[in-house]
Amino acid sequence: MSEIYVEDADRMRHGDRRLITDGRLEIGVFRVGDAFHAFLNSCPHQGGPVCQGKVMPRVEEHLSPGKESLGMDFSKDEFHLVCPWHGYEFKFETGAHPGSPSTRIRRFPTKVEGGKVYVVV
Ligand code: FES
Repeated sequence: MSEIYVEDADRMRHGDRRLITDGRLEIGVFRVGDAFHAFLNSCPHQGGPVCQGKVMPRVEEHLSPGKESLGMDFSKDEFHLVCPWHGYEFKFETGAHPGSPSTRIRRFPTKVEGGKVYVVV
């Protein structure tokens, strides 16, 4: 295993990303809130460049006690990465598709040390 320097943590704001390469691997590193997440830039659907997609709040539907829709809203604290090719969404915390948890992006560990962000490959 090796650690690759990505960026100084204070130079990345919520929703920012950096794309890095390590040999033949292309990895996207994201800041979401105070957390950093790293994924292989290859979508499990058809291999699209998922790490070049949008960082979007999860869409929540509000239901009445009778299960009738009261409208939709954006989550204030849960965000998804949306693949730019066909719109598959993935949770940052797990890399999994919310509706099909076995469909997931390959994750890499990250760490912050001395104010610097690293990805472990
Ligand atoms: S390749 Fe990512 S959604 Fe199809």
